Parts: sequence; C-alpha cells; structure tokens
Amino acid sequence: MSSGAGVLALDGPAGAGKSTVARRCAQLLGLTVLDTGAMYRAVTIACLHSGVDLQDGAACARIGQSVAIVLEDDGRVFLDGRDVTAEVRTPEITATVSTVSAHAMVRDIMVRHQRLWAEHHGAGVVEGRDIGTVVFPAARVKVFLVASNFERARRRLNDEVEAGRTVNFDDLLADLERRDRIDSERVSSPLKPADDAVLIDTTGRSIDDVVDHIVSLYRARS
Ligand code: DC
Repeated sequence: MSSGAGVLALDGPAGAGKSTVARRCAQLLGLTVLDTGAMYRAVTIACLHSGVDLQDGAACARIGQSVAIVLEDDGRVFLDGRDVTAEVRTPEITATVSTVSAHAMVRDIMVRHQRLWAEHHGAGVVEGRDIGTVVFPAARVKVFLVASNFERARRRLNDEVEAGRTVNFDDLLADLERRDRIDSERVSSPLKPADDAVLIDTTGRSIDDVVDHIVSLYRARS
C-alpha cells in the first residue's frame, strides 16, 4: 500500500483554485493529477441513474462498489466505459455530490482507489478535501488552499459562463456556502487542513505566484 511519500496533497473548499493549481503544478513537476472530486461526482451520477435513496449510505456504497470509474491522465472521466467528463460538472451533480460523498462507506471505497492510484503512479498531485488528513497523511507536501467566499463564487460564475450556462451569482454563493457546511460538518473525514498543511490564501494572488510557491515547497522536499 502506498504511503503517499511522493504525493502533493492539495485540499480546500470548492472554488479555492485547486484544479487549476493542481494542473499547473503537475505540468511543472512532470507529475499526473488525480481529481478525487471527479470520483465522488462519478459515483453520484451512478447513484442518481440507479434511483437509490441518496441518504442511504449502504445503498450508495453498493453502487460505488459495483461501478468502474476510470480517471484518465488527461482529465477525462469514465463511468462503466462511458465518457462522463462533461456530466460530472453539471449543476445537478454539483448540487447532490456532497450528500453522496458524506457517507463513510462510500468514502472507504474511493480512498482505496486513490491509494491504489498512488501506488501505481508512485508520485502525483492529488486534489480533494481529505487528502492530507486521511488519504495520504504521509504526503510529501500538504497544501490547503482557501479564498474568500466572494472570490470563489466569482470564479465559479466564470466557469459556468464558459460552459454556456446562465446562473445567478447569489445562488452560486449560497450553494458554495451550503456545500462548505456539508463538507466541513460531516462526521467522516470533514474538510479541514491537516496540522502540517501549508495554508495558502489565493484571493487576489496570481495563479503563477501560487503555483511557484507550491512547486518550490515540493522541490525542497524531493
Ligand atoms: O472538488 P469538487 O467540487 O469536484 O468535489 C465535489 C464534491 O466531492 C465536494 O462537494 C466534496 C466531495 N469531495 C470529498 O468529499 N472528498 C474529496 N477528496 C474530494 C471531493
């Protein structure tokens, strides 16, 4: 089982900049990225399609156990062989994923996959909510990204506009805050920085600046 000694753990709430920062850091370090949020989103699609009660952790876990989720190194997501890269980002999945990902039984299955991924890749950038605290407590570098709620909602608005969807800023902000609450207050692996994580506030900082900071932290420990 991988200890995660080569892992750059990138945690933080939605909209803090994890995905963009993860991709850039990985490029500079010659590593691949594992987007664990996409795994929880793929399970959520499978649960919705199967019609199970999303509040039923055992039922959601049975679905999680029975499906094949493949995350390609280029970021594409496959669920039982079907390309769901676009579907994982739809508002319906974004609105329901926190419910499914709060179940400990679902998390156990995903964490097992994430550790196998690290064992296979040896090193990599892993982004999520519990990577530094639970999945890879011995990660080489742990970063916890934050940004103001206003800034995070503004970034999400840009993403939605780019995806061709019309959304209301206040609704986005309210949804971010609702998800933060569910992710931070859940009993199983709540969203919180590891004791030894480096906290980086990305509000008003350029991506290049944040990426340079993280890349030097990782190189300093290589
Ligand atoms: O990063 P994201 O928005 O794609 O994550 C989707 C959801 O999955 C988010 O609401 C919290 C959950 N998640 C989690 O609980 N643990 C992770 N390691 C990654 C994501």
